[in-house]
Amino acid sequence: MPTIMDIRAREVFDSRADITLEVEVVLDSGKRGRSIIPTGCSKGKHEAIEVRDNDPRRFSGQGVLRAIDIVHTVIKPRLRGMSPYAQDEIDRMLIALDGTANKSRLGANAILGVSLAVANAAAVHSNQSLCDYVSRGQAKSMPQPIFSMLSGGMHGDGNCDFQDYQVIALNAAHLEAALQVGKNVHMALKALLMARGIGTGVSGTGGFLPPLSSNEQGLALLLEAIGKAGYEPGVDVGLSMDIAAEMFFKDGRYHLAAEGRTLTTTAFIDYLASLCERYPIVLMEDPLGEDDFEGWIALTRRLGGQIELVGDDLFTTNLARFEQGIALKMANSILVKPNQVGTLSETMSLVASAKAAGYGVVFSRRSDETEDTSIADLAVALNATKVKFGSLARTEAMGKYNQLLRLQDAIADAQAV
Ligand code: PGA
Ligand code: ZN
Repeated sequence: MPTIMDIRAREVFDSRADITLEVEVVLDSGKRGRSIIPTGCSKGKHEAIEVRDNDPRRFSGQGVLRAIDIVHTVIKPRLRGMSPYAQDEIDRMLIALDGTANKSRLGANAILGVSLAVANAAAVHSNQSLCDYVSRGQAKSMPQPIFSMLSGGMHGDGNCDFQDYQVIALNAAHLEAALQVGKNVHMALKALLMARGIGTGVSGTGGFLPPLSSNEQGLALLLEAIGKAGYEPGVDVGLSMDIAAEMFFKDGRYHLAAEGRTLTTTAFIDYLASLCERYPIVLMEDPLGEDDFEGWIALTRRLGGQIELVGDDLFTTNLARFEQGIALKMANSILVKPNQVGTLSETMSLVASAKAAGYGVVFSRRSDETEDTSIADLAVALNATKVKFGSLARTEAMGKYNQLLRLQDAIADAQAV
């Protein structure tokens, strides 16, 4: 039986060249597993807390020397000698060692860094992909990708209020076909933006950043790009959005700066419903504020039978928040970001309850991502219905799509035997 011999943490860079935490677990066999922890710029209030140095003299306060010290002096002594296969026990120990409801003592970055590196080390030791290790070789299907196309809100530069405009291939026979659809729409959109001379620079998630005269204009642009790429909107390709409404929900009102108007929850729901009537929208993430429960209940009643309503800031990958959401019939799908909760085991139990409740399961990157592709393995292993890895741009996103392609090959090989 292998045992954990050493745990090494270090500072590395993420996709925005900000500092983040890497953890490496070394087994007595010499085998190693690693993880790099992403972070976001539009965090939900209820997500687990990461430990940062907040020392303005180093990397604008983003340094993680404190988290590194926690891994080396608090976590490592407890885990040394344990089996890397004891994931549940290790995660329970990490949760107990932290002792807070939001992981603020040890930090969700230190905790998830260790939790995921342990799983990766166990997978390497067994000569398996993380996907095979976590699913015990049972993974069978590929999630449907959500491709980011236009960025706004906190991911944009003041160009509009909504955070992310996306497309989803609706009838792709397999992953490669879905990627082809995403790529074609992305190219058509770029050509459209170039022809209009409105800029083809991209955001941290790879979406284009054109100035928009209204939030609706983002949908209109995508519709045009889908047509130009030769697809039929609503048949071949659906529209989707991460509205990230919490970011413009203040004092009980939705403040649409791009349109110079402020709406009550009821009026904003009417507005969202009218968008759904006029555009082939198949999914909306965080259409309302994270604590606007009455709004969520009303919106789910109104649109839940028609489109996928995904809770990201609403649930923050937190089981207690999610169970409350199920009981109140809020949303019909959940966004899963392991670093919002902090351990692999908690991520797995959340997915299990989402499946039991009949909710969609969307595994998602953060906006400050890394080259770590574990999320692709976890999405396939845990039978996610969709994945949100960003645009068809930049290696931190493409690496995750590439990992899906590898996993698809491995599943086909296993089924051929
Ligand atoms: P993030 O959020 O910028 O905090 O990663 C992305 C999202 O809202 O899905
Ligand atoms: Zn979101």
